Amino acid sequence: MDVIKKDLKELKKRLDKAGISFEDKIVLITGGAGFLGSWLCDILVEQNAKVLCLDNLLSGKLENIKHHLNKENFTFIEHDISKPIDIDKKVDIIFHFASRASPLEFDKFPIQILKANTLGTWITLGIAKKHRARYIFASTSEVYGDAQVIPTPESYNGNVNPLGIRGCYDESKRCGEAFVMAYHRQHSLDTRIVRIFNTYGPRMRAEGYYGRVVPRFISQALSNKPLTVFGTGEQTRSFTYVIDEIEGILRLAFFDNLSGEVVNIGNNEETKIIDLANLIIKLTNSSSGIEFHPLPKDDPRRRCPDISKAVKLLGWKPTIKLEEGLKRTIKWFKSS
Ligand SMILES: NC(=O)c1ccc[n+]([C@@H]2O[C@H](COP(=O)([O-])OP(=O)(O)OC[C@H]3O[C@@H](n4cnc5c(N)ncnc54)[C@H](O)[C@@H]3O)[C@@H](O)[C@H]2O)c1
Repeated sequence: MDVIKKDLKELKKRLDKAGISFEDKIVLITGGAGFLGSWLCDILVEQNAKVLCLDNLLSGKLENIKHHLNKENFTFIEHDISKPIDIDKKVDIIFHFASRASPLEFDKFPIQILKANTLGTWITLGIAKKHRARYIFASTSEVYGDAQVIPTPESYNGNVNPLGIRGCYDESKRCGEAFVMAYHRQHSLDTRIVRIFNTYGPRMRAEGYYGRVVPRFISQALSNKPLTVFGTGEQTRSFTYVIDEIEGILRLAFFDNLSGEVVNIGNNEETKIIDLANLIIKLTNSSSGIEFHPLPKDDPRRRCPDISKAVKLLGWKPTIKLEEGLKRTIKWFKSS
């Protein structure tokens, strides 16, 4: 059985055990052809929800959702969510996940990123208001910027440079969160904000501007090229395997009485980038060395979530260790 099928089976089992089901719900997923969005599509189609997947295919791929295109409970809408769209069909739940998310894209596509997270959030909140749909916004650990409090709780207000290269992403997510809270307060909309920390797994793209650290290291290691580490590699990130992340997001979306909440969903085990590079070299049996490059400006030095709120409110914590998640991801990269 391939890695994705096996992971979906594991995820479905976990959700069934927790009594979490989206059967017959009409769910709009923006960014549904991307990495996280396509995993949401997969599990929700599997649970017999009616999935409307909206994407402009800029950083996502049709390949990620093509196995659903002929299914009765799946509709693909090719559209740029920063432009108005009317959804006639009654919608029960909206996941607004459309946004480029790779640091290397912040440099190349800052305006599109700003628009997806501000105008796109406003437009999808309008759809939620029309249908009285539950609304889940994909926010990010980047709203904390270069956090001074580690592990970082949801109550930390952030240390962000609005003028820097990352400002388009960090500040548009912060603006998106403010839009969400405004609709929650002014229109009594049932909203939930998930602050996602670095997530990795099958379907991440390694090539070109997309290159996020885990898939970049894996593809470099598999081709025995040097792994490109920025700075000394002493900076840390906390990596969550994709099915752990999706489970946390779906728990946040499912339970009642969470309206207006914001929750960190991430792994609370911090990893140095240099250690990640060495682990990937070991797990791939690669002959790659490591090449050090200048640290990009405003790169956060440490990143680690305080997940006590997720544990308490959602009964969630990540269960897949980094080494195990990397093995699965490497296996998928080798087979794709
Ligand atoms: N993966 C992570 O580690 C991570 C961490 C924090 C936050 N997030 C957030 O989760 C969401 C999904 O991230 P991902 O990792 O799956 O990235 P991704 O790039 O794989 O997916 C984003 C999807 O959104 C689509 N998209 C972008 N702009 C659009 C627009 N204007 N209209 C319609 N579709 C558009 C892209 O084509 C792509 O399919 C993003 O909002 C991102 O900011 C992800």
